[in-house]
This record gives sequence, structure tokens and C-alpha cells, in this order.
Amino acid sequence: MSSEVPTENPSPAEVPDDAEEKMNSNDSKDEKGETGSGKAETAIVMSKKQMKKLMKQKQWEEQKDLRRQKRKEKRQKRKLERQQLESNNEGSARKRIRRDVVPSTLRLIIDCSFDNLMALKDVKKLHKQIQRCYAENRKALHPVQFYLTSHGGQLKNNMNENDKGWVNWKDIHITSEHYNELMKKEDLVYLTSDSPEVLNELDETKAYVIGGLVDHNHHKGVSYKKALEQGIDHAQLPLGNFVKMNSRKVLAVNHVFEIILSYLEKRDWKEAFFSVLPQRKGASPLGEANDASKCELHEEEAGEDNSDND
Ligand SMILES: C[S@@+](CC[C@H](N)C(=O)[O-])C[C@H]1O[C@@H](n2cnc3c(N)ncnc32)[C@H](O)[C@@H]1O
Repeated sequence: MSSEVPTENPSPAEVPDDAEEKMNSNDSKDEKGETGSGKAETAIVMSKKQMKKLMKQKQWEEQKDLRRQKRKEKRQKRKLERQQLESNNEGSARKRIRRDVVPSTLRLIIDCSFDNLMALKDVKKLHKQIQRCYAENRKALHPVQFYLTSHGGQLKNNMNENDKGWVNWKDIHITSEHYNELMKKEDLVYLTSDSPEVLNELDETKAYVIGGLVDHNHHKGVSYKKALEQGIDHAQLPLGNFVKMNSRKVLAVNHVFEIILSYLEKRDWKEAFFSVLPQRKGASPLGEANDASKCELHEEEAGEDNSDND
């Protein structure tokens, strides 16, 4: 590196190899008082000067590694300081976002009482959908009061085996109890695509229930039947107002959950649907000839439970 070599240093070509030798021999001549002409003295003085330069250069070379090491340490220190500064900034940004969070009073329940209707591979999918709901709720601007009720059986075993951390999940009530034991009957609204009632507005004093089921539509209408049997209110999401349906509008658990979260933030169903439903689920805008505010949800994709988490 050019900065390592002082500019006043002579290049090796400028320093005669025999300088030291010459100097020694001349010095000994001096001691003996045998110094010759003024010309010779000049030669000796020049050689001494060059010798000094040579020594300096030698020293410079010897300390090269030390200097390199020091520069490296300085660079690392600066990098560390930069990283610390960045993480502090991120931290305060996160804190800022957390400060903006206003939890909703709306209770959102995933009813896990359908455990025995599912094969293990579908229980595993439900587990992933629940993980997704948990993560989205933790990030949400208006997180809901999240409940997992009737928790047990295959789902609990699978969570214990594959995600032991669930016992430390925050801001969620996970219980083996049925939602009937936790909520007033009049507060409950079962969300089901088979209900003739359409949910136009969310009531944040209510407890909405999502059936914890991945069934590829093998158990048609099971959550609607349950709501009727228990005599509790029920409603479907207002998909029909914004999405042209070919037939049934059955969504995956996490999609229903995320649509609710999104609606609480945007207060606009259309935006909530299209921010959550992936295009490959069939939520695609209609052409010019149609109502542009509507989208089409293809039956086969809508009926599929959740390719996102498969
Ligand atoms: C995959 S679906 C289960 C379908 C199942 N065959 C049934 O009848 O409930 C999972 C849950 O999401 C909710 N869900 C799905 N689509 C919905 C919609 N369009 N409106 C309201 N809730 C819906 C229901 O609570 C449903 O139990």
C-alpha cells in the first residue's frame, strides 16, 4: 500500500548495497585519522544519510504488520459501532410501532373440537395455520383477544412434538375448555360459509368462532350444524359482495383470521379480502366488462384449505 511507505524513503535502488561496508571502512579510516580528500568525506556523509534512511525504511517495514493489525482493529471497531447504532435505531422503530398498537376487544376463537375429524397430515396443516394466526396477531396494529379452545388430542401432541415453544406464546389463551364454558352464549358468533347471515360489520364486544378444521370440504357444513345445534349466532364473511363466487366460499382458518385482523385495521372488506387472499387462491380482478370492484374466487382453489402452509 502506498500509504505505508514514507515518500522520503529511498527506493532500494537509491541505497547502495555496500553502503554499510563503505561507512564502516571509512569510519575506521576516520578513527585512524587516515581520512582522504573532501570528496571522500562527502561520500561518507552521503552514505551516513542514506544509511539512516535505510534504517528508517527497515523499521517501517518491520512495523508494517503491526500497523495493518491496528487498522484492522480500527475498522472492526467502527463496524461494531455502526451495527450498534443501526440496531438501536431498529429497536426504537420497533418500539414506535409497538406504541401505535391498539388491541381490539374483539375475541377471536379457533375451535379445536374437530380434532377427531382430521387425519394427522391435516392436523399438521392446521397447526401451521394456527402458527400463522399467532404470528399475524402479534404483528397486527389491532390484535384480537386470541383463544384456542378444546385444545388437546392430535393437535396438542403435534404441537408438543414439533413446536414446544407454544407453551410460552404470549397474548393468547390456550385451553382444553370448550368456548361455551368461557363465553356468554349471546356473545358468540360462529363464522361459517354456510350461514345465510352475512357479516357486514364486526362487533368488537362479540366472540367470533372459527372452526379449527382442515378437511378439503369432506365435512361440508359441519360448523354451521354445530352453531345451529348450540343455538348460537352464525354468519359468513361478506365475500359475495366483493368476490364473484362460482360456488362455495370456504376459506382456510388463517385466511378467515387474517381477514378479520385486516378489516380491524382498514375498516374495508374489499381491501381486507384482497390483502389476504392470494391470487393463486383465485382472487383475481374481473375484466373491464364486469364490475371492476369485484374479483373472482375459483371454486377449486377456494375449496382448497391452505396451500400457503402446505
Ligand atoms: C376450512 S374451513 C372448514 C370447512 C368445514 N367443512 C366447515 O363446514 O366448517 C375452516 C373454518 O373457516 C371458517 N370459514 C371458512 N370460510 C368462511 C367464510 N366464507 N365465512 C365465514 N367463515 C368461514 C369457518 O369457521 C370454518 O369452520
